[in-house]
Amino acid sequence: MMKMICKNKSSLLFLMLVTSLSLFLYWFSLLYLANKHVNYAKLAHKDDPMKRGSDFDEKLVVIYNRIPKTGSTSFINLAYDLCKKNKFHVLHINVTANMHVLSLQNQIDFVRNITHWNEMKPALYHGHMAYLDFSKFSMPFKPIYVNLIRKPLDRLVSYYYFLRYGDNFRPNLVRKKAGDKMTFDECVEKKQPDCDPKNMWLQIPFFCGHAAECWIPGNEWALNQAKQNLVNNYFLVGVTEQMEDFINLLELSLPRMFNGTLDHYLNSSKSHLRQTASKIQPTGKTISDITKSPIWKMENDLYEFALQQFHFLYKLRSNIRLQGKNFSQKYFYEKIRPK
Ligand SMILES: *[C@@H]1O[C@H](CO)[C@@H](O)[C@H](O)[C@H]1NC(C)=O
Ligand SMILES: *[C@@H]1O[C@H](CO)[C@@H](O)[C@H](O)[C@H]1NC(C)=O
Ligand SMILES: *[C@@H]1O[C@H](CO)[C@@H](O)[C@H](O)[C@H]1NC(C)=O
Ligand SMILES: *[C@@H]1O[C@H](CO)[C@@H](O)[C@H](O)[C@H]1NC(C)=O
Ligand SMILES: *[C@@H]1O[C@H](CO)[C@@H](O)[C@H](O)[C@H]1NC(C)=O
Repeated sequence: MMKMICKNKSSLLFLMLVTSLSLFLYWFSLLYLANKHVNYAKLAHKDDPMKRGSDFDEKLVVIYNRIPKTGSTSFINLAYDLCKKNKFHVLHINVTANMHVLSLQNQIDFVRNITHWNEMKPALYHGHMAYLDFSKFSMPFKPIYVNLIRKPLDRLVSYYYFLRYGDNFRPNLVRKKAGDKMTFDECVEKKQPDCDPKNMWLQIPFFCGHAAECWIPGNEWALNQAKQNLVNNYFLVGVTEQMEDFINLLELSLPRMFNGTLDHYLNSSKSHLRQTASKIQPTGKTISDITKSPIWKMENDLYEFALQQFHFLYKLRSNIRLQGKNFSQKYFYEKIRPK
């Protein structure tokens, strides 16, 4: 080898030239890359407001696992209206055949995808999906869960007529039971399956989650689990009957995403109200029949529980009255030691 290189002077000279040239190129490309890197960082901060700052708000992921017929469309449309202005993403989770639980493969895929999909952050994901606990997938990240809950009989009646008559949101879509003229009262009297109290078993499983017991109508463990999740794993749960207050509190506590939502809701509430067509209020007899069922009692238990939590938080949002004066709650740190 040595011999070959040293055979003549010109080949040695050539080798030196190539070596120095490649060293120079290497040094130059390093410099260039470093420069490029800095430029990327600058770009991310200056030109892309989605990437501005690296605080919690910019990484915010909110999951709204909306329950059918609880006013969820009205709410999510506000987010769609404001996402451009407030600079966050809204994504619908579309599951095959509208299934409410994910397979194990899809659970881990979904959790990993949401966790790592940084280009979408901050993001609001929504879909008719039961609560999914992120902590069991060995993830360092947990999204913020929010939801709305509605009086169970109202929800069932709304769903019953929705299947028959649709709503003003997509008036031309032919619904599953279109053409069926039976009222909810007649249905209850004839004990038809569509108004069976078992159909009310939906809000409990949505809060309960992906365990088998969650989906067994009347299961006590499911009700308790739903309450546990509601308190421990949901950031905020509002009630359909007080949508305005829910939006108010959401905006106050997560302004990065929901700034201006209440104003927008009040200003445009008419255009956003999704109303089931031809809904007939059930008679007193129907109401007393339904409310005798154990399923209604349990679903209503969860509703009342959620309502109590919501009122508790809503009262604290502002204007605490102390000695006849209004105060807005503040907190600060003091007695910081060692100095
Ligand atoms: C989900 O996707 C399917 C297939 O593309 C579509 O037919 C369906 O309308 C979607 N569901 C919703 C709620 O948009
Ligand atoms: C998340 O899933 C979407 C849709 O399949 C895909 O386009 C995206 O790249 C995924 N993100 C990550 C970080 O895996
Ligand atoms: C909310 O938006 C208003 C104007 O649209 C702005 O003045 C205010 O600073 C915003 N607040 C937050 C917390 O982003
Ligand atoms: C309310 O609506 C009016 C007219 O539609 C519009 O000019 C105004 O900017 C809206 N205000 C808010 C806070 O969205
Ligand atoms: C003080 O708070 C009460 C209720 O919390 C409210 O009705 C009243 O308008 C408030 N007063 C002022 C001056 O903000």
